[in-house]
Amino acid sequence: MVRTVSSTQSEMTEIILPNDTNMLGNLLGGRLMHFIDMTGAMAAFRHARTYVVTASMDHIDFIQPVRLGDLVTLKSSVNRAFTSSMEVGVKVWAENTRTGAVSHVASAYLVFVAVDEHGRLQKVPQLKPETPDEMRRYEDALRRREHRERESVRRKEAKLVTAALTESMENS
Ligand SMILES: CC(C)(COP(=O)(O)OP(=O)(O)OC[C@H]1O[C@@H](n2cnc3c(N)ncnc32)[C@H](O)[C@@H]1OP(=O)(O)O)[C@@H](O)C(=O)NCCC(=O)NCCS
Repeated sequence: MVRTVSSTQSEMTEIILPNDTNMLGNLLGGRLMHFIDMTGAMAAFRHARTYVVTASMDHIDFIQPVRLGDLVTLKSSVNRAFTSSMEVGVKVWAENTRTGAVSHVASAYLVFVAVDEHGRLQKVPQLKPETPDEMRRYEDALRRREHRERESVRRKEAKLVTAALTESMENS
């Protein structure tokens, strides 16, 4: 089965209330990450049509602060599907409710993995990019996956070195 990017496109709008902000009246980064995770999951659900879990959120740019009272709109779509995983891109805009000015405030890439009700990995449909932008994101998603895999190997090796050093210090 093959799905289009447009069939995965998802959107969410939130109004930023005092409970979402820090003492300067700016949206908390963790709250924005939660909105990003939710909107990303919607696109992944629409692609996989099964349960999905967040495997990673590997790159977020917080470009400018979101203020108390702003409307935040998040848009997501699947960039590429692999075997059981999907890379989803999420872009975030803030709208000043008094002036109507809209600005791009954040972007993120997440990987979701499709699982069944027992947590077993599920194969996902392939994604067919149709427009030049979708094709660019599709190609870039493969490069980011390769980068993630290299980083994962590097982290595992660093962990082994730390464990070996700790053991030798404990035995000396
Ligand atoms: C994500 C998870 C299902 C992967 O399971 P796993 O047994 O490690 O699976 P594998 O190593 O066989 O990898 C399965 C797929 O996940 C991808 N994956 C695993 N860890 C990943 C990571 N950290 N970042 C990106 N992709 C990852 C693999 O690339 C692979 O993709 P593919 O099938 O498309 O090739 C598992 O680590 C998990 O359940 N993590 C907790 C998820 C969670 O609780 N999220 C927060 C709440 S939703």
